[in-house]
Amino acid sequence: MAKAKTQFICQNCGTVHSRWAGKCDGCGEWNTIVEEDPMGGIGSGPGKVPKKGRPVTLTSLSGEIEEAPRIPTGMGELDRATGGGFVRGSAVLIGGDPGIGKSTLLMQAAAALARRGHRVIYVSGEEAVAQVRLRAQRLGAADTDVLLAAETNVEDILATISEGKRPDLVIIDSIQTLWSDTADSAPGTVTQVRTGVQAMIRYAKQTGATMVLVGHVTKEGQIAGPRVVEHMVDAVLYFEGDRGHHYRILRTVKNRFGPTDEIGVFEMSDKGLREVANPSELFLGERNEKAPGAAVFAGMEGTRPVLVEVQALVAATSLGTPRRAVVGWDSSRLAMILAVLEAHCGVRLGQHDVYLNVAGGYRISEPAADMAIVSALVSSLAGLALPADCVYFGEVSLSGAVRPVSHTAQRLKEAEKLGFSAAVLPAASPDLPKGSKGKWREVDSLPDLVARIAG
Ligand code: TYD
Ligand code: MG
Repeated sequence: MAKAKTQFICQNCGTVHSRWAGKCDGCGEWNTIVEEDPMGGIGSGPGKVPKKGRPVTLTSLSGEIEEAPRIPTGMGELDRATGGGFVRGSAVLIGGDPGIGKSTLLMQAAAALARRGHRVIYVSGEEAVAQVRLRAQRLGAADTDVLLAAETNVEDILATISEGKRPDLVIIDSIQTLWSDTADSAPGTVTQVRTGVQAMIRYAKQTGATMVLVGHVTKEGQIAGPRVVEHMVDAVLYFEGDRGHHYRILRTVKNRFGPTDEIGVFEMSDKGLREVANPSELFLGERNEKAPGAAVFAGMEGTRPVLVEVQALVAATSLGTPRRAVVGWDSSRLAMILAVLEAHCGVRLGQHDVYLNVAGGYRISEPAADMAIVSALVSSLAGLALPADCVYFGEVSLSGAVRPVSHTAQRLKEAEKLGFSAAVLPAASPDLPKGSKGKWREVDSLPDLVARIAG
């Protein structure tokens, strides 16, 4: 018989190495490589007779399946992120930093589904049943029929959830606590996590139950992170937020049954997570309208417009190399904007420190924020506050031109709804709403924008 071969697997990214090393070549993390048996007992059972399947044509299926059957939770923000509710028979991974609120969110979702008459089982590997109940009580969910179990062994979990009537939804909190008798590695390793998740997905496909898997994002790499199972599940959602702020964003990064750029916004309170139906109001909540260096960006998250304030501080430096600090935006994009300002507008910031912050701890990923950032920078440098009733959006290119961005009409509509009557946007923006009451100022280049702000 061939000698059992072990592999060295990085617990952070799953890269397989032929020998142990201190640093993983795949992700650059240190001390994350652990020796594992990749087969983990798979295929060691008694000889299995192969089963013949029969392929079917696409056309023979037409009319049979219209839409993936879903179970909406009634929590609007969660349903928005999943694309209209949990799909039956699918596996969903919810990742996030420890303590961000994953267990809280799922207990609330479980209670909401139980109230709608669904059978929900919450399997906690981290807390005892009494602890989970205490949390449910604080969330006002203790009066629901959510079934609780505290198990970590995969075979025990499957036996537990197979007992009685079939569940509609099973929550496994968390995948890092799963361990199976069939895998030899220690709990929390890539092999154990993958074996456990595979078993859960198989259960979901066989029974039609939705499997919601919680995965902690791990920085130290001692235990496997959710990345190593992302490819196995149908949908991946990340729960993000800043500990210093109360709001949390549920972001869809993969979805086999729906859009991937949607977000759900929540606010953490002492009674759990509260849905935020209008995120713009939250991010614009603490505005100081008379301060120079602040510009309101009309952004988009998926299909939803989000207005957020960007703040810049430009100050003469006392250092040889000026400081550039960015929170909530891409720092290399700031370097690009500063270079374009210098090359095409004569705005030299080589002797200035530049600080940039996106209000509320929000993160902007759209290039459409360029024009808002430029406006905030120039406003701070000139010491002139921007008009309080104006929003900014548009992309800046290296040549100093401004480019139109998508969803112009939606951005402007949201701005009008929130009381903004003016907007500065790229010339030739498509779908500019006609007959609108707002004052839309179209700029055709970056020097044009700078000249308007600096007067
Ligand atoms: P939790 O859901 O346990 O996080 P995770 O499962 O992602 O590790 O949330 C933990 C944090 O949330 C904890 O610091 C306390 C806070 N919290 C509230 O502020 N209000 C609440 O009602 C609950 C249940 C938790
Ligand atoms: Mg938890």
